[in-house]
Amino acid sequence: MQQAIAVLDSGVGGLTVVKEVMRQLPREKILYFGDTARTPYGSRSAEQVVEFTREIVDYLVQFNPKMIVIACNTATAVALDDITSRVSVPVVGVIGPGARAALGRTRTGVIGVIGTEGTIRSGAYEAALNTLSGGSVQVVSRACPGFVPLVEDGNFRSERTQAIVESSLAPLRGKHLDSLILGCTHYPFLADAISEAMGPGVALISSADETAREIRSILERSGQLAEADGTPLHQFFCSGDPVKFREIAQTWLGEQIRLTPVVWQVPHLGA
Ligand code: DGL
Repeated sequence: MQQAIAVLDSGVGGLTVVKEVMRQLPREKILYFGDTARTPYGSRSAEQVVEFTREIVDYLVQFNPKMIVIACNTATAVALDDITSRVSVPVVGVIGPGARAALGRTRTGVIGVIGTEGTIRSGAYEAALNTLSGGSVQVVSRACPGFVPLVEDGNFRSERTQAIVESSLAPLRGKHLDSLILGCTHYPFLADAISEAMGPGVALISSADETAREIRSILERSGQLAEADGTPLHQFFCSGDPVKFREIAQTWLGEQIRLTPVVWQVPHLGA
């Protein structure tokens, strides 16, 4: 049986990575887990995010995937090394790919990063950008805790959304950025609103494209790219409201999905 690529996020955000994986690697079977019952992760402690990420990975490992993709910046920032040491398959995060994509795009070397409180607090993007550029770029970071709830509500484009986006991004204007990393996989859902707030001179950088490229190159090197013709079956799991998840996923991906609701045995709903 064809082994799948397992992708996880705190909610619907990782679907922005899934869409790009489907586009670049249409033969690959995908398993996706959105932990919508416990989103957002961005305001939680690093310990709790590590614990939740382990639980999702333990759940996905029962399906014998050939790779795990942590399509969540918050979880990548604090749990990538932990998960890599716990499983025997390759584990891919989204921060390295996002940083590489921004460095490939910037001309002025002034790069903005927006993300959850957890991601920004971790300093993971600054570290990746500085290491990859040899310290030659200037990084301006800002946490935008209001964005993920808008996306999980499916509220991508409204006056209220635009107002929240404008006020969250106001401190970044006038900083001479030419590129802005969407350092949370939920944020591409708000790309139009973010673009309007930042103006045409700022390129929005999503890690999805570069992450899909990294997935391809790892699978290519290990001779594990899917070969079968035809459309592979994708399977989605979510721990919260399946109606909302299905609606957002199908609209974003432009296709019907197979969705299985998952009820955690021991819910951790506290912040
Ligand atoms: N999509 C996630 C990220 O990339 C998590 C957002 C959240 O749950 O706060 O950081």
